[in-house]
Amino acid sequence: MNYSIAIDGPAGAGKSTIAKAIAKEMGFLYVDTGAMYRAIALYFLRKGVDASDTEYIAKECSGLRVRLDYDEEGRQQVLLNDENVTPYIRTEEVGKMASRTAAIPAVRAALLDLQRDMAATSNVLMDGRDIGTNVLPNASLKIYLTASSLVRARRRYEELKEKGVSCELAQIERDIVDRDRQDMSREIAPLRQAEDAVLVDSSDMSIEEVVSTVIAEFNKIL
Ligand code: DC
Repeated sequence: MNYSIAIDGPAGAGKSTIAKAIAKEMGFLYVDTGAMYRAIALYFLRKGVDASDTEYIAKECSGLRVRLDYDEEGRQQVLLNDENVTPYIRTEEVGKMASRTAAIPAVRAALLDLQRDMAATSNVLMDGRDIGTNVLPNASLKIYLTASSLVRARRRYEELKEKGVSCELAQIERDIVDRDRQDMSREIAPLRQAEDAVLVDSSDMSIEEVVSTVIAEFNKIL
């Protein structure tokens, strides 16, 4: 039997930082499902398709091949029709498009089996929005990781400033609140805390504190 840890939560809660650190420490495979949704979003952005063109997107997405691969250092790479698109998926534009296209049932269906297959063959730490509620309802451990919108906006602001990108904190917070609303209000697999998930609010916690909290929760189930 494989172990699986599901980490869900809103944009900017620190899921991927935490998930990567825990996966490394525990020797689990890290599966960033947001990156898969971003790869599909990139495909349609490049084609100039609007997210409201749901019929076209639904028809086209079943033919797309999204795959996760891992480099020598274990870092996840996202392949879209065999092209490594990892360097192009982290922009705000792709994130917003991913949130919109992820609301289309055919897009979710295209990724679901792939995500479940990965969990069936390895010990995984999977992060996203619907892992505990939908993708892995029987996950060994479910975490719902959140933080206040202001804290999440501040973290993002610091990240962008460090990269030399000019930005405004209030605008970042508005974008975050918008994305939360979009991810929580869609009809299919909306973002919500699974009934059996452990709630971790990282607003006043360091990365190390969150990592050790999750590992302690995992040790409880062994
Ligand atoms: O975690 P992220 O910011 O990379 O995810 C981008 C978008 O993809 C997110 O706003 C909603 C969607 N997503 C989803 O609907 N379900 C998931 N399991 C992961 C991401």
